[in-house]
Amino acid sequence: MLIVKSVNELKEQVGVLRKAHKTIGFVPTMGALHKGHLQLVSRCVAENDVCVVSLFVNPTQFNDKNDFNCYPRTLDKDAALLESVGCSIVFAPSADDMYAPEEINNVFAFDFGGLDQTMEGVFRPGHFNGVVQVVSKLFKIATPDKAYFGEKDFQQLAIIRRMVRVMNFPIQIVGCPIVRETSGLALSSRNALLSEEERTTATFIYKTLSKSVALQSGKTIAEVKTWVTNTLNATEGLRVEYFEIVDGNSLKSLTDWSESEYVVGCITVYCGKVRLIDNIRYK
Ligand code: PAF
Repeated sequence: MLIVKSVNELKEQVGVLRKAHKTIGFVPTMGALHKGHLQLVSRCVAENDVCVVSLFVNPTQFNDKNDFNCYPRTLDKDAALLESVGCSIVFAPSADDMYAPEEINNVFAFDFGGLDQTMEGVFRPGHFNGVVQVVSKLFKIATPDKAYFGEKDFQQLAIIRRMVRVMNFPIQIVGCPIVRETSGLALSSRNALLSEEERTTATFIYKTLSKSVALQSGKTIAEVKTWVTNTLNATEGLRVEYFEIVDGNSLKSLTDWSESEYVVGCITVYCGKVRLIDNIRYK
C-alpha cells in the first residue's frame, strides 16, 4: 500500500494507472476510521482494480472551530486498518497542498437546488459548501470511476449525487448502508468522543427510531415526529437538534405518509457535547 501525501504525487500515480487501463475506486474520509468506513473500503477493493482512500480533515466544512480542533486524528492506525482490507493508495494531503490560501476563507458557493435548505444545511451553515468544495477537488485529483459514501450522512449523499450530475463528473456514486454496533448505535468517528455512559445513552437514538417505524400505520407524520423528539429529549443526556421526515430524493419535509414512496427520518442528537446523526427508512 502506498501512502501519498501530495496532490502532485497522487496525480502522477493516477496517470500511471490510467495508462494501464486500471479502474479506480475512491473512498473519501476524514480518517478516524471505524468498521463503517472499512465496509466502504472493502466494497471499493472488491469492485475496482485499485482502491484509493483519502484521509483529510477538511477545514472548510467545519462551521465550528472547536469541532474541527477536536476531530479525532489517527493517521498511523488508519493506515494500518486500510492496509488490512486491501486498500492500494492512501491519500493524506495537507490543507496547504489542497487549498490555495484564498480558498480557505472565501466561501465556495454551490447551487444545491434546495437540498441544503433543511437539516444539516440549516444547523451547520456553510458545511455543505465545504463538503462539495473538497469532494469536487478530490474527484478531480483522483479521477475515480466509482466513489463510495455512507448512507449515515444521508443529506451529504443526496448532495454529492446532485454535484456529480450538475458538474458532469463521469463518476458512479455508490451509497452504502449504515453499519451499526450490536446495540444499534450507528458507527461514527465521533463515537470515540463519547464516555462509556454516553455510549449507552446514545443507543436510545436508534432504539427510538426503530420503534417509531411501527407507529406509521396509526399516527400522522407530525405525531411520529413529536413522539421521537419527546421520547429522546426525555432521556437524560440526550438533546434532539432536529428530526425531519423527508422524501429520500428531494429531502423535502413530508406532512403525509402518502406523499412519497421513499420516506426517511433524519435526526441529529447531542449526546452530552457530542453531535450524532442517524436516519431510518419508513418506506
Ligand atoms: O463524510 C465525510 O467524512 C466527509 O464529509 C467527506 C465526504 C470525506 C468530505 O470531507
